[in-house]
Amino acid sequence: MAEINSVTDLTLDGDVAVITLNSPPVNALSAPVREGLFEAFKAASANDAAKAIVLICEGRTFIAGADITEFGAPMAPPELPDVQDQIEGASKPVVAAIHGTALGGGLEVALCAHYRVAVPSARLGLPEVALGLLPGAGGTQRLPRVVGPERALEMMTSGRHVPAKEAQAIGLVDELAEEGKLREAAVAFARKVVAEGRPLRRIRDQNEKVEAARGKPEIFADFRKANARKFRGFLAPEYNIRCIEAAVNQPFDEGMATERKLFLELMNGSQSAAQRYSFFAERTAQKVPDVADDTPLIPIKKVGVIGAGTMGGGIAMNFANAGIPVVIVEVKQDALDRGLATIRKNYERTASRGGITAEQVEQRMSLISGSLSMEDSFKDVDLVIEAVFERMDIKKDIFTKLDAICKPGAILATNTSGLDIDEIASVTKRPESVIGLHFFSPANVMKLLEIVRADHTSKEVIATSMKLAKQIGKVAVLVGVCPGFVGNRILGARQREAQKLVMEGAMPWDIDRALYDFGFPMGPFAMSDLAGLDIGWVKERSKGESIRDVLCEADRRGQKTGAGYYDYDENRVAKPSPFTEKVIHDFIVKSGANPRKIDDQEILERCIYPMINEGAKILEEGKAIRASDIDVVWQNGYGWPVYRGGPMWYGDQVGPEKVLAKMKEFQAKMGDQFKPAALLEKLVADNKKFADL
Ligand code: 3HC
Repeated sequence: MAEINSVTDLTLDGDVAVITLNSPPVNALSAPVREGLFEAFKAASANDAAKAIVLICEGRTFIAGADITEFGAPMAPPELPDVQDQIEGASKPVVAAIHGTALGGGLEVALCAHYRVAVPSARLGLPEVALGLLPGAGGTQRLPRVVGPERALEMMTSGRHVPAKEAQAIGLVDELAEEGKLREAAVAFARKVVAEGRPLRRIRDQNEKVEAARGKPEIFADFRKANARKFRGFLAPEYNIRCIEAAVNQPFDEGMATERKLFLELMNGSQSAAQRYSFFAERTAQKVPDVADDTPLIPIKKVGVIGAGTMGGGIAMNFANAGIPVVIVEVKQDALDRGLATIRKNYERTASRGGITAEQVEQRMSLISGSLSMEDSFKDVDLVIEAVFERMDIKKDIFTKLDAICKPGAILATNTSGLDIDEIASVTKRPESVIGLHFFSPANVMKLLEIVRADHTSKEVIATSMKLAKQIGKVAVLVGVCPGFVGNRILGARQREAQKLVMEGAMPWDIDRALYDFGFPMGPFAMSDLAGLDIGWVKERSKGESIRDVLCEADRRGQKTGAGYYDYDENRVAKPSPFTEKVIHDFIVKSGANPRKIDDQEILERCIYPMINEGAKILEEGKAIRASDIDVVWQNGYGWPVYRGGPMWYGDQVGPEKVLAKMKEFQAKMGDQFKPAALLEKLVADNKKFADL
């Protein structure tokens, strides 16, 4: 026996048929894979010499899911359910041999096997929820039958990749194989099943766990309640829950019909379209057109960080988490001690919540050292990241020193959130080694990393930074030097409008609520209250000229003082403030304007269309490589709701012509700050969208 098709082989290992898939990169269930599986299982079933069948994959992983690139078009035959029937209905034991990741449709195929063997490094999950979907190939009905509805709820609404050992503990995996010996182990396991005459365990017939949950609607009610905040705005988690309810309350085939119906609803809806777009946008962002895949990388074995504050400490943790030693330099011993103590506290908090073990805390702390001397500590580092005060003179001074201290080829990075990196690089004799690595606070938590390419940054430095970002678990986007880079520049456009809306009569809580309902975790004023209104505010220089001045002078400096734009009760619950309202009213009257009623739609258009317009300018100036990169920045760094894709995707959905028309209307009424970007005009003239660029 041999080749079934270009991606599938069938061989006989003694009395066990072994079906091998090899469809790089991730063995996704494309049409050839489905066809290969279907034909191979048919042939293996018909072959009397085979007493059992093992399904195994070559390359980096078991089947990682349906082929997402095929979504949107009708599925070419054989359809996945037909393939699965072939597997589950086989008249001899089928064993799935899992390495890498068995995800989505991949796990759903494995759940049709009668047994599962995995190596310890394998991970299993149903991550469809992250694509705005639910498992549409029986996963919603089979998983609860194996692990019980409660665990299925957690796994399917989080999309978590469950490690093989845990999967074994919950019954999802039958046996663990030694790393590197999966094939032998799976074949041996299959023989054992045959020798012991074990049953063909078809999950569809195993009803014990779902029946046990029947008549207990509180399982679902409690779960919904506990996660309401997390799921807010998203359709997919709720649809996943409904499918598990169906698994509990309906016979298997009816549950499958419910799954199909809800799957198609999600698949055809706008949320999943945006979430699938985001999946590819994140991956596309890793590609830099003029930096080849085989660009030589600079080995990063040791990292230096300047500044032990919240930012410096958070940055250092990223490297320690990835096993890379890092030395933090501070000016004063007490600041250094405080910084290191904060890092330890952060790790201990994670450990107390079960995120890491006590040993991991010590192991990570052992990778972080502190020093008061750049000269002593930075001679041998491969990368330095400066995270000090945002002042050009200080940064220039530091880079002059780094240039003198660091070895040739070391990457010199600044964490500035908007200063001119070309100017910083100009003080060194090696501007090719200088780059911006803009982390977002808290840097150990936030996924986004803006990598800022300056005029002279070398391709090696760019390629190394992109790779390193992945290694430390960040979503990286390459941007160009301009004030605020991509993220803060677009934020600036929104903030300006929010402030102006207030001066026209919208209250901060009206604006916040409109943006919250749109899907942001909080609006700009709640955000200011959280950060502190007095950031950058100096009492002595305050002239009471802005709403913020007056609030700060009244000691309303945000949540920390119990009041800011909002009033806060003892549980930090925000309430609209009559005080703030009066301050705003007085300002409006003083300006000679008449406050007017502004509805949610106008608030959204005023706040969001200028963001899209600013994004268009950024593209026009070449400060972002592609529109989807801007969306990746806003999703991962600024809380743009994932199910709305990002500002540029949203602009495409609204329609560039509508955004342009509104910008023109605003421009006519309120002046040239609303001037449409030339690129926006051009898109409309050419009848194109941002996605077409
Ligand atoms: N379909 C098509 N392409 C896929 C894919 C999929 N399911 N999963 C990954 N790819 C592609 C990526 O786009 C990337 O392509 P590129 O090299 O051209 O950019 C390549 O495979 C490698 O992917 P990563 O860069 O993400 O590689 P990693 O090694 O970092 O991660 C992974 C591998 C964990 C498998 C990750 O790719 C992943 O999470 N994939 C998505 C898994 C998923 O969501 N599966 C469910 C799909 S929906 C489904 O199955 C519906 C079903 O219920 C009917």
